[in-house]
Amino acid sequence: MAEITNQEKMIILDFGGQYNQLIARRVRECQVYCEIHPYTLPLERIREMNPKGIILTGGPNSVYAADSPVCGKELFELGIPVLGICYGAQLMAHVLGGKVATAPVSEYGRTPVTVDTRGELFRDVNEHSITWMSHTDYIASVPAGFQAAGHTQNCPVAAMADPSRRLYAVQFHPEVVHSEEGFKILKNFVIGICGCTGDWQMDSFVDKTIAALRERIGSGRVLCALSGGVDSSVAAVLLSKAVGEQLTCVFVDHGLLRKDEGDEVEAVFGPGGSYRLNFIRVNAQQHFYEKLAGVTEPEQKRHIIGEEFIRVFEREAKKIGKVDFLAQGTIYPDVIESGLGDSATIKSHHNVGGLPEHVDFREIIEPLRMLFKDEVRKVGLQLGIPERLVCRQPFPGPGLGIRIIGEVTAEKVKIVQEADAIFREELEKAAGEWRESANGTMPPWMPDQYFAALTNMRSVGVMGDGRTYDHAVALRAVQTSDFMTAEAAELPWSLMKHVMNRIINEVKGINRCLVDLSSKPAATIELE
Ligand code: XMP
Repeated sequence: MAEITNQEKMIILDFGGQYNQLIARRVRECQVYCEIHPYTLPLERIREMNPKGIILTGGPNSVYAADSPVCGKELFELGIPVLGICYGAQLMAHVLGGKVATAPVSEYGRTPVTVDTRGELFRDVNEHSITWMSHTDYIASVPAGFQAAGHTQNCPVAAMADPSRRLYAVQFHPEVVHSEEGFKILKNFVIGICGCTGDWQMDSFVDKTIAALRERIGSGRVLCALSGGVDSSVAAVLLSKAVGEQLTCVFVDHGLLRKDEGDEVEAVFGPGGSYRLNFIRVNAQQHFYEKLAGVTEPEQKRHIIGEEFIRVFEREAKKIGKVDFLAQGTIYPDVIESGLGDSATIKSHHNVGGLPEHVDFREIIEPLRMLFKDEVRKVGLQLGIPERLVCRQPFPGPGLGIRIIGEVTAEKVKIVQEADAIFREELEKAAGEWRESANGTMPPWMPDQYFAALTNMRSVGVMGDGRTYDHAVALRAVQTSDFMTAEAAELPWSLMKHVMNRIINEVKGINRCLVDLSSKPAATIELE
């Protein structure tokens, strides 16, 4: 399941740019399968993979610096079309004999560009449009065989092309939404120039994957850690369709789930639900609270939750006995290896279902390993998993443990669960009303992620005639396209006031309601 073969594909070579996953997502939006690989991928391997086209990403380096990531000119001699983006464009120019230099004027952000619309890359593209730029070097002269195919006020070669060798380059980033014609340009390359037919469809993925799983698993037994999140749910249902009774799913309730979530997961996947998963629920709430008692440091909390999750899962697995395969809901963003190695760890993210050490299994199965989140959702809907489960907002593995600042206790979990349920209920109600009055369109303020968190602040209040000294809850709602950056959603004030009133009146232990308006960066989405 590690590789998808017999599928028309594109390759993206990663030179350390920040938008690389976005390039892959855009290519897949063209219904074309693509993979991201480090720039060091050997030529031999590329030949074997037989891609329809190659895209070179951007990156933070200068092509003429001694230790910058490079490729040989042989890459451009494979007869495979290549599109260089930003650093990738400069690299193409540099390697093929053009000149790259420090630009007299760096361009950053929205930049008007003029392109030569006679070429294939800019077919049906507006001659003048806004693009997203981020460069301090530029292509000063194009290599032999190339023609400049676009310019900006300060950049004479914003695009270049050698159609006879099917080599193309753009200085701007067509993958980001701020490049108005960007998607059309990428599509022209992928479909028009590389000749992809667009055969990457989720319904055929489901059929092919079920068949492949059956073949690989044979009569073996499979164990799956089910968190109730989108990825592990979709993986479990795929496996259940493939091997039915040979699958056992273990759901560990760590007591850090949202209100009623454990019961909801059980209702869908348990014995009364519509899937044959051999569902086992482990109620380990007390165990987790005991382990977390007195712990306030965020990384330590994350570590304990991740570690204990695996230990509890292991204990259950041992009761089941020997299994042949361990299944995980790993998805593509978790496996992409950066071309330039890992960046700094801000938080040690983990998905529940990390790898146990003492479970007796032969192999790991990751049926969603090559899919992006939106593709996993499509697969989930294809499989008939309820939309409210498939399309729900992300919920971190450590759960409410990282939405309670400081020590986690059963009492605090209850408080944040109640406040969070009210916030989500009211926000979803307001969004539903908006949609009804606006022909089904989403309100512009609809957040991608929204929740209540418990601060470690207590403050004085007055209720009835008495003094209170209670907790403060923080409401967090953000809009984000990739969860790497985020901005606070501008929720209607009337909604916020209503939520505040309900929380303070209905949730015992809270006397203050704060709104977290911070962007990411500098803040992160979760509070810990
Ligand atoms: P941050 O807080 O880093 O979160 O801005 C970015 C996105 O990642 C989610 N998140 C996690 N997801 N395990 C997960 O599966 C984790 O440990 C974890 N920590 C954060 C967060 O909810 C947001 O969507």
